[in-house]
Amino acid sequence: MTSGLPRFFGVSAFAIGLLLALPSTAAPIQNASYNEAAKTFRLDGGNVSYIFGVNERGELQAIYWGGRLQPGDAVGAVKSVAGRTSFESSRSETPQEFAGWGQGLQWEPALKVTFADGNRDLVLHYVSHKLTASGVDVVLRDISLDVRVTLHYNIDAETGIVARSADVVNGTNAKLLVEQEAAATWSLPHETDYVLHYLTGRWSAEWQMQTRPVTVGATVLESRVGSTSHAENPWFSIGRNAQVNETSGDVWFGELGWSGSWRITVEQDTLQQVRITGGYNPFDFGYTLAPGETLSSPIFYAGHTDAGYGEASRLLHRFQLAHILPGTPHPQVRPVLYNSWEATEFNVTEEGQTALAEKAASIGAERFVMDDGWFGQRVNDHAGLGDWYVNKQKFPNGLRPLIDKVHGLGMDFGLWVEPEMVNPNSDLYRAHPDWILHFNDRPRTEGRNQLVLNLAVPEVRAYVFHFLDELLTDNEIAFLKWDYNRPWTEPGWTQVDADQQKKVYVAAVDNFYSILKELRAKHPKVEIESCSSGGGRVDLGVLRYTEEVWPSDNTDAFDRLAIQDGFSNAYTPGVMMAWVTDVRNNADSRNVSLPYRFLVAMQGGLGIGNNLNKWSPEDFATAKGMIAAYKGIRETVQHGSLYRLISAQNNSPYSATESVSNDRKQAVLFAYLHSSQDGYPYPRLFLQGLDPKAVYSVRSIYGKMSPDTLTTASGDYWMHHGVDVGMRGDFQAAGFVFERTKEQ
Ligand code: DGJ
Repeated sequence: MTSGLPRFFGVSAFAIGLLLALPSTAAPIQNASYNEAAKTFRLDGGNVSYIFGVNERGELQAIYWGGRLQPGDAVGAVKSVAGRTSFESSRSETPQEFAGWGQGLQWEPALKVTFADGNRDLVLHYVSHKLTASGVDVVLRDISLDVRVTLHYNIDAETGIVARSADVVNGTNAKLLVEQEAAATWSLPHETDYVLHYLTGRWSAEWQMQTRPVTVGATVLESRVGSTSHAENPWFSIGRNAQVNETSGDVWFGELGWSGSWRITVEQDTLQQVRITGGYNPFDFGYTLAPGETLSSPIFYAGHTDAGYGEASRLLHRFQLAHILPGTPHPQVRPVLYNSWEATEFNVTEEGQTALAEKAASIGAERFVMDDGWFGQRVNDHAGLGDWYVNKQKFPNGLRPLIDKVHGLGMDFGLWVEPEMVNPNSDLYRAHPDWILHFNDRPRTEGRNQLVLNLAVPEVRAYVFHFLDELLTDNEIAFLKWDYNRPWTEPGWTQVDADQQKKVYVAAVDNFYSILKELRAKHPKVEIESCSSGGGRVDLGVLRYTEEVWPSDNTDAFDRLAIQDGFSNAYTPGVMMAWVTDVRNNADSRNVSLPYRFLVAMQGGLGIGNNLNKWSPEDFATAKGMIAAYKGIRETVQHGSLYRLISAQNNSPYSATESVSNDRKQAVLFAYLHSSQDGYPYPRLFLQGLDPKAVYSVRSIYGKMSPDTLTTASGDYWMHHGVDVGMRGDFQAAGFVFERTKEQ
């Protein structure tokens, strides 16, 4: 809970205080200001203030990050923390914004380098700064050697989310090895009972929420596999204590914009100061900077709220929709798509896809996506990746007839690709066996019978861009499902000198982004989905270039509730694709009704992945009704404010979400029941986020409320009195729409 008083970092030895407002020598530019007398920087945005300053040694020191302060609350000069003993030195204990590893720093550094002569001591001090439209750029430099770091700070005026990154320049006249480079270190107020939340998973079970107290020591969240990974996602949230919940309490949260190997370290030092440092993963890292060369870090985005975990995720959702995704600030809603994968797997043919397309159009699908299997000698996952020509046995006349057919049915056409991979059994690999990540004369580990192309190699980048460009130029394709089905192994880049090889961790990902960027510029109408065997590549880096993501290959509707709940903590439902699929395909062989499956998939961007050739007339009628209903609520679901009324985590027997449109004219309620027990009724649901005085009428998409429920009542009524849904039994689901009928 916020006390209402500003909180400052550090211990009593800090000579920091609230002073009367000092006149600022530089007039505040929008949300950023510099107080020259105190040498402090202040960023204000949304309900957040972020303050740091230059201490008496010249270090950039964290001062405050939390609820927004009053304009007149000026912060006095910042002073370093006195070292308590020779083991807890001032240098180590002072909360720094971006510390080099030097002078005995004991905690996670933001930057660690080795100079050409073997010196590894780096001490960064403030040099200069420049206020920008939404923040400030601060230049630091080593105390004796010309290593310069420009720290970029930008605060979002609406959400208060701060974006931080660092550019490191080698100004010396010798090579410099960067062994570790973070985007930022964030320091939290001195508290002893923080609770850390983070998302872990594995293939087909992503987005599981983990919770642990922050105690002395470090929790390392990371990917070492060259891509974002299923195992851990570069997102965290930290509640001030165990009392923080979905609707109240102080939460600090953040996520990295990087699709390569990354690391976020949450550490509490021996004097209980908590810091979060994140950026490139230092594991196996080594970026040699030639004189004059720069290494830019990814961007680390972070925010604060005093209104609990629900508001933390809503802030992230708003920020992503307004500032990250293609089409910001008003990204397109996701069309209802049909995808062939679970129906046909690799067995795609012109005839088979045409039959599915006709049926998909009949239920209201707007996009038809042909998945894996259409190219090269791709009959299974043993061959064909890399050979991006249309398979003539399956499509004798190319893709044209199918695409025309799909257009004729009123849908647009999407296609699956996996551009960064190659099967050893392919013409591409036979011609260029050295184009993959590998070490000379070492085994080449296969995953799903494929190897990873090294996008850092200029010829590989050119090949990948060229085939995609040609595909999009020659065919009327509205959407690419961009897949990535294995992690890195043997990450060697043998074409360059040994001291350059580890640059692959940055160069390959930068080239991935640059291909996406260039393709989008050349084919501006094409939309892209980031898929990596499900949710292995979801982060704010790739989301700058992709409209949507595929959170998991697990399409079991019940499992999916927890997966989607976890996902929604970090990413907007506006990018979360969710398919209705056949029961037999489910990870758990669980048999749940078609309406249940629809109501689960309607929490995100709705897709259909069923084998429609096996559907009954009743199934078609159900699907048609559900899809029509979805089209009337999708703007609210995808771009509105999400309230997790009952979380689906931890095998909850109940779960419920509510989405409220930005104008608060519509709210959508979904409720799910695993199993009734002992005759107890479903818990009452209390809506949130409605206009209290306005009148809302309620209608059902599916399911019933208890018979005595009002059909029309005020926002206050729905929020305070709540609603009872009449669900009993196993695997039941219900959906309701509240429409504002008038102001009261
Ligand atoms: C993994 C994806 O997650 C699936 O949806 C599907 O596209 C397959 N790859 C195709 O190989």
